[in-house]
Amino acid sequence: MGRFISFSFLTSHPLLLLLIIFPIIIIIQQSKPAIGLPLSTNSRWIVDENGHRVKLACVNWVSHLEPVVAEGLSKQPMDMLSKRVVDMGFNCVRLTWPLYLATNDSLASLTVRQSFQKLGLLEAIGGIQSNNPSIVDLPLIKAFQAVVASLGNNNVMVILDNHISKPGWCCSNSDGNGFFGDQYFNPDLWIKGLTKMATIFNGVRNVVGMSLRNELRGPKQNVKDWYRYMQLGAEAVHAANPEVLVILSGLNFDKDLSFVRNQAVNLTFTGKLVFEAHWYGFTDGQAWVDGNPNQVCGRVVDNVMRLSGFLLEQGWPLFVSEFGADLRGNNVNDNRYLNCFFGVAAELDWDWALWTLVGSYYLREGVIGLNEYYGLFDWNWCDIRNSSFLERISSLQSPFRGTLLSPFKCITLLRETALRVIKHELFLTRRAWCF
Ligand SMILES: *[C@@H]1O[C@H](CO)[C@@H](O)[C@H](O)[C@H]1NC(C)=O
Ligand SMILES: *[C@@H]1O[C@H](CO)[C@@H](O)[C@H](O)[C@H]1NC(C)=O
Ligand SMILES: *[C@@H]1O[C@H](CO)[C@@H](O)[C@H](O)[C@H]1NC(C)=O
Repeated sequence: MGRFISFSFLTSHPLLLLLIIFPIIIIIQQSKPAIGLPLSTNSRWIVDENGHRVKLACVNWVSHLEPVVAEGLSKQPMDMLSKRVVDMGFNCVRLTWPLYLATNDSLASLTVRQSFQKLGLLEAIGGIQSNNPSIVDLPLIKAFQAVVASLGNNNVMVILDNHISKPGWCCSNSDGNGFFGDQYFNPDLWIKGLTKMATIFNGVRNVVGMSLRNELRGPKQNVKDWYRYMQLGAEAVHAANPEVLVILSGLNFDKDLSFVRNQAVNLTFTGKLVFEAHWYGFTDGQAWVDGNPNQVCGRVVDNVMRLSGFLLEQGWPLFVSEFGADLRGNNVNDNRYLNCFFGVAAELDWDWALWTLVGSYYLREGVIGLNEYYGLFDWNWCDIRNSSFLERISSLQSPFRGTLLSPFKCITLLRETALRVIKHELFLTRRAWCF
């Protein structure tokens, strides 16, 4: 026996380990400089009010399906979920909402209980009642605000993403929600909804950005209307809430922003415009399985650069607001794509949002309790689906470079590394909290 307590002794005595770790965490947390909000842009970087780079390391949290309630609240208390988002190293959530939540008062004023009742989701009501009793009789819009507030209480930034008009799973070319003029996509109503949402969250500090519309698509899509309506939408949001970043999605399921290369977006304000793009393994079909992964990576990345990545070189922030993979690890196409994605995301150091936090949905495409294999949480919203993936993603969470990085950057990086080591230990112990 040596004179010092060995690490293996500590790990086999978790309580002792916690006694040592907690004071360290408290010191570390207290030294963490708060991000000075609101955010703005400086060339390709998103920066805080002191001009220091803030890298958005977000996770998508779904709240746009038929119940119009943030997923998972029947499984875990929302404050616990917000804390887990932080524990997993994310600084931000891209929270999805359907337009009708903002434009249809009879929808927005349904209570959470009524919304689930209409869909016959009685088990979910029981779950919400036990895990989140404070929201079960709140109107849907208030419940949505409660989720944003819970994230705010935990210092998590929020991007409000208008994902669809009519609540439901998204997205297909023919779902009537794809482009201005589609059955459920009236441009005037959309402007009204954006204005309403921007107004509701005016003054809510942790709401740092609004994604104007997810994945424009379908037979009606065209560049002329893109400029016409996206510029109107951007001005409407800015007028109602000048503090939020205005985030514009491209055409063809948010893959294509190539037209911006030759025609700048014309806005009355500056320092707030961000572009977003989506990139999945299935974006290129089965190319990753069929070809040599290195060659496919080269070809696909060239394409991504041509369609959206060039914006970074032109001095615009690019928020890759959806990417992700089947976390069971047996989808070869996804695995190869992910290897390529991680390399490029580190190299270009763009802002991003992973799809998704969701472990399972109340109801998706007619299936109750559908398992989300792209989700960080397992079906029960407690266990982590794939902890080795979580470790990998943590490598992308800190900035690699940026404008005016704080003079304490070195200390910050050291601190974050230490936190990660500690958090990994905490994960192991925290699993017990869920039951
Ligand atoms: C508004 O919401 C209510 C309740 O969900 C629904 O019955 C109605 O059809 C919606 N109206 C429109 C115009 O979408
Ligand atoms: C930009 O928009 C303003 C009005 O907001 C308009 O007067 C101007 O002509 C537009 N410029 C271009 C190049 O479209
Ligand atoms: C996690 O993902 C990796 C591949 O990224 C895979 O090899 C592993 O089996 C997965 N683990 C679980 C528990 O699904």
